[in-house]
Amino acid sequence: MDEKKIKIKNLNLFFGNTKVLKNINIDIFSNNITTFIGPSGCGKTTCLRCLNRMMDMNKNCRVTGEILIDGINIYSPDINVTMLRQNIGMVFQKPNLFPKNIYDNIVYGPRVRGIRKRQLLDKIVKKTLESVGLWEALCERLSDRIDKLSGGQQQRLCIARAIATSPEIILMDEPTSALDPISKLKIEDLIDTLREKYTIIVVTHDMQQATRISDRTAFFLDGEIIEYDYTCELFNNPKEKKTNDYLTGRYDP
Ligand SMILES: Nc1ncnc2c1ncn2[C@@H]1O[C@H](COP(=O)(O)OP(=O)(O)O)[C@@H](O)[C@H]1O
Ligand SMILES: [Mg+2]
Repeated sequence: MDEKKIKIKNLNLFFGNTKVLKNINIDIFSNNITTFIGPSGCGKTTCLRCLNRMMDMNKNCRVTGEILIDGINIYSPDINVTMLRQNIGMVFQKPNLFPKNIYDNIVYGPRVRGIRKRQLLDKIVKKTLESVGLWEALCERLSDRIDKLSGGQQQRLCIARAIATSPEIILMDEPTSALDPISKLKIEDLIDTLREKYTIIVVTHDMQQATRISDRTAFFLDGEIIEYDYTCELFNNPKEKKTNDYLTGRYDP
């Protein structure tokens, strides 16, 4: 059964007087991989960042509407933003690990949450590295600094760090766009395996990637969601002319 994990209702976002997100309405399903596609500057990143209230950090930015996660409006005044963010892992375009060793990167979040026992931290490191397919390669090297890892391994480690605090939702903003093709496919395989435990939203520029990894796709254009559907439906049988125009290469060079 498809269960709705996130409901975005009448979401508008302004930078100063400029409206960047225009009446976004979308339901994101549990244990789905949902991709946001659309040309550069259409609001994908901004919409993604509304989900963990990262846009709040920008003083010039104003949000109206609601985002419900498990039925709770995360924009209501009594929401604890720190707790909210612990439930939502985030992975960025470029690996953004801390200049520390592999172990300390993974346990950063759990330590912030007050976990101090070495045994428990060790367990978290093993479990998360296993989930991202890096345990065998790295178990003997946990005290190595992260600059010894390849870009693909660093990005997988970012995913490990994101899941180390046991979030329910993972947001990824173009997670493979800085990687070589082989590392990219490895990350795609990894994302596929994470579906079982997490609700995942991936912003991607890469339409083939969207078709490979996602259950559902939302097409953004100029701050609006033009169409949202099962990925195979949206790509094979788009209902909107604008979607079809985009898919056939009319907006992006
Ligand atoms: N901090 C900001 N201040 C002002 N405008 C911004 C800011 N961040 C993004 N924008 C504008 O919001 C729009 C959407 O940007 P973005 O969400 O990054 O698009 P995408 O991820 O689809 O490429 C763009 O027009 C961009 O210029
Ligand atoms: Mg973006």
